[in-house]
Amino acid sequence: MLQSDGTSVCKFDLHGGSERTSVVVITGGSEGLGRALGSKFAAGGHNIILVARDSEKLNRAAEEIRKTTSHAVLTIAIDLTEPDAASRLKSILDQARLQVEILVNNAGIGNFGPREKMNESTLRMLLELNIRATTELTYTFLPEMIASGKGGILNVASMSAFIPMPYMSIYAASKSFVFSMSRSLDQEVRHTGTRVIVLAPGIVDTLFLAKAGMKRSLWLSLMPTMDADDVARVGYEGFVAGRGVIIPGAANMIVAAILKILPHAPLMRLLHLVFSYPSTMAAAISQPKRSPRAAVHDKENASEPFGDAA
Ligand SMILES: NC(=O)c1ccc[n+]([C@@H]2O[C@H](COP(=O)([O-])OP(=O)(O)OC[C@H]3O[C@@H](n4cnc5c(N)ncnc54)[C@H](OP(=O)(O)O)[C@@H]3O)[C@@H](O)[C@H]2O)c1
Repeated sequence: MLQSDGTSVCKFDLHGGSERTSVVVITGGSEGLGRALGSKFAAGGHNIILVARDSEKLNRAAEEIRKTTSHAVLTIAIDLTEPDAASRLKSILDQARLQVEILVNNAGIGNFGPREKMNESTLRMLLELNIRATTELTYTFLPEMIASGKGGILNVASMSAFIPMPYMSIYAASKSFVFSMSRSLDQEVRHTGTRVIVLAPGIVDTLFLAKAGMKRSLWLSLMPTMDADDVARVGYEGFVAGRGVIIPGAANMIVAAILKILPHAPLMRLLHLVFSYPSTMAAAISQPKRSPRAAVHDKENASEPFGDAA
């Protein structure tokens, strides 16, 4: 049992010999896409370390994944927005003689709504998590991957990385940052045998949007929604195949291709219109089939498309 200063408690039972044990570290691994990615990497024969803040949720996720694999599934509870989170995580793993072969930078939050209603502390947390933590984790673990000449990083961006998005300006900008950093670094390091790959999902059926303050809206009715499991499968397979950019879903790939060729100014005006369209109108439009987890969105029946981000 190791205890990092403060909040995290973790159990490791992988010791044996002097060799360090290879692991896949997945941030935001307690639910949603991170948990689904954990299942895919575990099924691919990897030892898994799930990282998030809530240790109970982490343990539940680890229990679920353990049922499907003979490999180790361990948890570390840590708030990645805290200063030095990346170096603390590294020292916990070093003490346990675990070598990060693959890092999945998946933890991220959104904050959607009109600029004047943005919650300042949530915005700060978004910058800390989506940008600073992702960057520091990438730069902390990349050198040992390069030294070993294998492995890599899967950075989870979003399709919102491809165009400035009114009403989610900071989130979209944070994902553009992740996308750009990942693509640049991949060019720098790929000759070493290590990769920095970016996963850019469209809408995924998790609690993310509700937490980010997105209520049922015309936008949600129009955009294809994918299961976290399907996105994770495409993400895992794309990573193993060494694709630099992974966009799950044919419809999302078409949208991404269109965004590359169409001028952004009229598209942004259209997005502004769509996002500000009252959700009561959207209710009249048939909704895609929604999972019980996403039903939380549909309980929100106010006339504004945005609520308060957590
Ligand atoms: N869902 C979508 O529509 C969508 C679309 C495109 C891209 N994405 C991206 O996909 C990634 C995963 O999203 P998701 O939909 O799976 O979201 P989610 O269901 O809300 O899961 C977020 C995960 O991040 C963890 N987390 C949040 N704050 C943290 C912190 N400060 N330190 C450590 N862990 C933290 C959460 O656990 P705790 O709260 O316990 O810490 C949870 O495990 C994000 O980067 C998101 O931007 C999502």
